[in-house]
Amino acid sequence: MKKILPSILSADFANLERDVRELEQIGIDMFHIDVMDGNFVPNISFGFPIIEAIRSKTDKIFDCHLMIARPEEYVERFCNAGCDMVSFHIEATNHADRVIQIIKNSGKKAGMVLNPQTPIESVKYLLPKLDYVLIMTVNPGFGGQKFIPEMLEKIEELAKIREEKGYSFLIQVDGGVNVETSKLCRDKGADLLVCGSFLFGAEDKEKTLGELLR
Ligand code: DX5
Ligand code: ZN
Repeated sequence: MKKILPSILSADFANLERDVRELEQIGIDMFHIDVMDGNFVPNISFGFPIIEAIRSKTDKIFDCHLMIARPEEYVERFCNAGCDMVSFHIEATNHADRVIQIIKNSGKKAGMVLNPQTPIESVKYLLPKLDYVLIMTVNPGFGGQKFIPEMLEKIEELAKIREEKGYSFLIQVDGGVNVETSKLCRDKGADLLVCGSFLFGAEDKEKTLGELLR
């Protein structure tokens, strides 16, 4: 089943609870949470206290996207902060298998993220262990960027490997998702579509949500 995950990076941080409730009311059951450290990516977002604060306001699924260097040092704390799914970048660590183990041992779903330049080959041997793979469709660090069309081929390639090998991971895409690119990604095999600026900027979010999955 295809899903839209609103990225709370595009929410109003002074009114996070209000924004989360509004999305819950139109049927959202998974939220995408972007953590940026100002080192792995050239921007800083937020960390544990904000996640814990919204965790106390909703029981929906939290998908935490770690854009941080050396995720092995912090990942357990993100699991404990109330995230249900945690993804990290292959480019950010030499210990990817260890990070997956930490996430799984915490009882959470593990995902790995590939930047636009990173080939699928780089996570080839980890694919059987993953619950999801996130294909970045923009350069990580900021909301509101333009979708990189070459990533459609990567999504297609990953879906083909999944089919051939009988793997069960879901395919997630993140960056520049709008009505048009959502359809293109879903047609190539994407299951989970992160959407920030397009959804939060919409006049009528319920209607836009329907269009994003049409
Ligand atoms: C970018 C983040 C995205 C971002 C998506 O580094 O990982 O989740 O919020 O925002 P839009 O949908 O505006 O591209
Ligand atoms: Zn993200």
